[in-house]
Amino acid sequence: MKILVTGGAGFIGSNVVKILEDRGADTIILDDFSGANYKNLDNVKGEVICADILDESLYKKLPQVDAVIHQAAITNTTLKDNNKMINVNFNGFKNVLQFCLNKNIKLVYISSAGVYGNGISPMKEEQKASPHNSYAYSKYLCDWYAQKVRKELNASLIVGLRYFNVYGPGESHKSIAASMIYHLFLQMEAGKRPRVFKYGQQRRDFIYVKDAARITVEALEFRESLVLNVGTGTARSFNDIIAILNKALNKNLEPDYFDNPYEGIYQDYTEADVSLLKEMNAGAQFSLEEGIGDYVDNYLLCGAVKRFQKSA
Ligand SMILES: NC(=O)c1ccc[n+]([C@@H]2O[C@H](COP(=O)([O-])OP(=O)(O)OC[C@H]3O[C@@H](n4cnc5c(N)ncnc54)[C@H](O)[C@@H]3O)[C@@H](O)[C@H]2O)c1
Repeated sequence: MKILVTGGAGFIGSNVVKILEDRGADTIILDDFSGANYKNLDNVKGEVICADILDESLYKKLPQVDAVIHQAAITNTTLKDNNKMINVNFNGFKNVLQFCLNKNIKLVYISSAGVYGNGISPMKEEQKASPHNSYAYSKYLCDWYAQKVRKELNASLIVGLRYFNVYGPGESHKSIAASMIYHLFLQMEAGKRPRVFKYGQQRRDFIYVKDAARITVEALEFRESLVLNVGTGTARSFNDIIAILNKALNKNLEPDYFDNPYEGIYQDYTEADVSLLKEMNAGAQFSLEEGIGDYVDNYLLCGAVKRFQKSA
């Protein structure tokens, strides 16, 4: 099997590439490195193609592959340039989809829980979309277009995955768009009080990247086209994260609450309905405690030791 992973040098894409290679697949990484970290490709064997998914001439030059996992996107949800956001995320997606249709190969693309906005939780795949920003809207457009193509063309398999909040190794290059778990770790490891929106009771469905990436690879085996939530099915509060990090770091830092500047357009509560995910035998395996434990012990603290050694 040869799999093309767009955005393969990014956070989740690079984790996907590593799982594919561990399972014996050949990979091709397509990334323009606009928001990637080349260090994420340490020990990766696949060919790297540095190119923009918007470049239509690219697709004629790509080697033969068996399937595509499309991760490439602008992922900074606070970007104000709507034209750029929708162009890359939606038109780029349409190019990748057209490539798969022309070659009659399977496409697994990534949508987002952002499409639900502040809709009812647990969030079900069929509920009405209510995107609150241009990023979420760009993902909604991908889901809408994929559904239209499926209906009209009886197309080859198209699987859309709506990731909830993903955290884990490989996200440090994302700066403001990195997970809250990563940001809180940095503050707390430096001995600072963790800063969260008042009063830390917001709840999100946080999924560890090892689960999200594994489910993504397993989606290549699905036999039907569908859109699927990728979450744990359990919403956890920001205060929970602080408590887990305090325990992992052996600290007792009190939260420093501040006003939420995104009040009204902020997703205060997200929880995936995971019935369909379970039906596909593809549920998450890490609890929040286990995911943060693995991340802190095996990745973040190793990085902290290296930073300490460098500055000493
Ligand atoms: N991290 C999350 O919590 C989360 C949640 C929901 C959905 N997603 C989706 O998952 C996917 C991966 O996100 P991530 O968190 O790994 O972010 P990321 O920013 O690390 O990865 C995106 C990758 O796409 C590449 N890219 C951007 N524009 C490109 C272009 N025009 N051509 C080629 N490559 C381009 C970037 O260089 C980067 O490597 C994205 O589609 C994102 O929208 C992520």
